[in-house]
Amino acid sequence: MKPINVGLLGLGTVGGGTLTVLRRNATEITRRAGREIRVLRAAVRNLDKAKLLAGDLPLSTNPFDVVDDPEIDIVVELIGGLEPARELVMQAIANGKHVVTANKHLIAKHGNEIFAAAQAKGVMVAFEAAVAGGIPIIKALREGLSANRIEWLAGIINGTSNFILTEMRDKGAAFEDVLKQAQELGYAEADPTFDIEGIDAAHKLTILSAIAFGIPMQFDRAYTEGISKLTREDVQYAEELGYRIKLLGIARRAENGIELRVHPTLIPERRLIANVDGAMNAVLVKGDAVGPTLYYGAGAGAEPTASAVVADLVDVTRLHTADPHHRVPHLAFQPDQLSDTPILPMDEVRTAYYLRLRAFDRPGVLADITRILADSHISIDAMVQKEPAEGEEQVNIILLTHITVEKNVNAAIAKIEALDAVAGQVMRIRLEELAAK
Ligand code: NDP
Ligand code: HSE
Repeated sequence: MKPINVGLLGLGTVGGGTLTVLRRNATEITRRAGREIRVLRAAVRNLDKAKLLAGDLPLSTNPFDVVDDPEIDIVVELIGGLEPARELVMQAIANGKHVVTANKHLIAKHGNEIFAAAQAKGVMVAFEAAVAGGIPIIKALREGLSANRIEWLAGIINGTSNFILTEMRDKGAAFEDVLKQAQELGYAEADPTFDIEGIDAAHKLTILSAIAFGIPMQFDRAYTEGISKLTREDVQYAEELGYRIKLLGIARRAENGIELRVHPTLIPERRLIANVDGAMNAVLVKGDAVGPTLYYGAGAGAEPTASAVVADLVDVTRLHTADPHHRVPHLAFQPDQLSDTPILPMDEVRTAYYLRLRAFDRPGVLADITRILADSHISIDAMVQKEPAEGEEQVNIILLTHITVEKNVNAAIAKIEALDAVAGQVMRIRLEELAAK
């Protein structure tokens, strides 16, 4: 059979990894796909930078040379960002080409428009590499778990922030130094605030929630909080209480809607997911039939991500000649079967909490705090008062609560912060047991 022709947009970390894997494993990949997957040309901005890797592969600085090339069957978008990536993908679809992308930002923001266009044109848009790097989580959720009603999922889905948290905890490394290292290793986004502030994880969570629950992409409704305000003190107190702090993306089917949230989270240290370190990712999915399943692997980097890109290329190649109606729907559910279940505002989310506050060590302070919590219908699970540091008048008080609704916690925090005996702001970190039940 004649080869299928691929055009690469971008030859950076992931594009370079993709070219390398396609070349190195060409024989195996052809045996799997049923025909050769041949890269016909690539587009970059800086020709000199890409020359060595490209070898005799024709290069262009105009990405439309790739997208408009009639010889090309599949366009692989690995340049990142929203524009011109969106325009290029839409143009590729309009030209009747399949698209493979690792661009979670693009899919989370414009996926609804992109999938509708692809559906109308009868082409595929594959995006395995967009979530959790090399872990085949899209395929697992979309196909492997299709018997299940998904109840919730929780994932460590940003390698950079997990790498930073791990290095800070294990080596006492400084935040900025570890971030620099993550950038050098090719893990970080072009704008690293996307990693640190939870935005990249929210892009990925948006995609996972759409496939898990059969809802449209709703990135703008996801709650996003990153790791930049975490202190080493809180990491240490969490450990003393038997928890690890991880940046989690959580999507949960609740009574009145779907929770969609990214934030630092205390997890019991005995959970497997609490022990996922460095740039590794893991996604825990709870289905009603299968129970909890855990997917673990490299969440970033050249070849791990290329592994997912090439798997998509093989899938698209196998299905290239299939009737479009016989293909797996982009979002797992048939396009006319998407549900309008609302995303819950953060105020309505139910979870447990770690609260740390600084208070003067005076009689009655604890009574005031516990009264405020009781009045807000918040039940305390554990409470610790630390010894004051040498020469200090204030002490750290750490409270763990049972599950409660976020708006009650917010109201209680405001009242606690208003107490004369309490100094500064209350540190609030959400806590999830992630139990199998
Ligand atoms: P890089 O910055 O390493 O590479 C981007 C590539 O795109 C470079 O070759 C760049 O060319 C090229 N490029 C950028 N803009 C244009 C343009 N307008 N026209 C032509 N070429 C262009 O990014 P990554 O490889 O790290 O990321 C690519 C995508 O993969 C992003 O969407 C990212 O979020 C996603 N991703 C990245 C992972 C990772 O571990 N790095 C993991 C999973 C997903 P030049 O170098 O000449 O400027
Ligand atoms: N910047 C991303 C991360 C790359 O660190 O996880 C993988 O999507």
